[in-house]
Amino acid sequence: MLNIENLEAIIKVHKAEKNKFKDKKKSVKSSNLSEYKVLKGINLKINPGEIHIIMGPNGSGKSSLASLLAGHPKYICTGGKISFENENLLEMEPEERAQKGIFLAFQYPIEIPGINNSYFIKTALNNKNEILEKNKISPKDFLTLIEENRKSINLDKKLLKRHVNCGFSGGEKKRNEILQMAMLKPKLAILDEIDSGLDVDALKDIGENIQRLQTKENSTILITHYARILKYINPDKVHILVDGKIIKSGDTTLAQQIEKEGYLSNASINN
Ligand SMILES: Nc1ncnc2c1ncn2[C@@H]1O[C@H](COP(=O)(O)OP(=O)(O)O)[C@@H](O)[C@H]1O
Ligand SMILES: [Mg+2]
Repeated sequence: MLNIENLEAIIKVHKAEKNKFKDKKKSVKSSNLSEYKVLKGINLKINPGEIHIIMGPNGSGKSSLASLLAGHPKYICTGGKISFENENLLEMEPEERAQKGIFLAFQYPIEIPGINNSYFIKTALNNKNEILEKNKISPKDFLTLIEENRKSINLDKKLLKRHVNCGFSGGEKKRNEILQMAMLKPKLAILDEIDSGLDVDALKDIGENIQRLQTKENSTILITHYARILKYINPDKVHILVDGKIIKSGDTTLAQQIEKEGYLSNASINN
């Protein structure tokens, strides 16, 4: 369903933003933008029903890959191909990708002041229904559905009435991302560090819900640093991304090995 071949990409950064990174990288200048190579030949194939884990050190390109798949304009593909359900993903606008069923849960979910959380989810769901030429969900059915999913992810009821993520704790933001996923039922969910900074209860709720939402038809890419979420999730494959490349792929045991030995020993095994 998702096929990434030899993907290479750069990030375009405005000069003002560049100083943050100037010690880290050599940049290629073009007008007021600087460019950095972030993905250096990624190959990844994900079939319907599969869960793939991507692990890797900080700054290896995990969020860049996630953002590029969702269509963030800051990332420009400079080589390779991405097909999603046999269509060229790179030709699609971000909203078309969402309408085709791609969902990104952000590493740092943004706050959207002025937009009611429940209304936001309802609008997204009705937009999806419209694309699929289905009727709008009735207010009663929407309330039943969101209540069922809210309970399952243990999100405080009053957070549905607040503005999207505004003043939510880190864990509440992550629960809210999974609530959106549960309501929208994407074909491909990309979850960027959904488990970072969670306490044990939140980790359990989030892990169990990700596994609950997995069917034979949909796929999940889970970006994580820790094998601990694998107590709740059964992945089909584990990949290690280092410096813009997948250096190793394996099964759950690879994740356990990384947690014990770190990335570097595994990077050198392959080199
Ligand atoms: N705004 C930016 N300007 C310059 N470099 C950036 C910017 N955002 C990310 N990068 C660089 O791109 C690389 C990949 O970052 P990222 O995809 O966020 O890594 P990860 O999610 O694996 O920690 C890093 O070296 C990072 O410093
Ligand atoms: Mg990241």
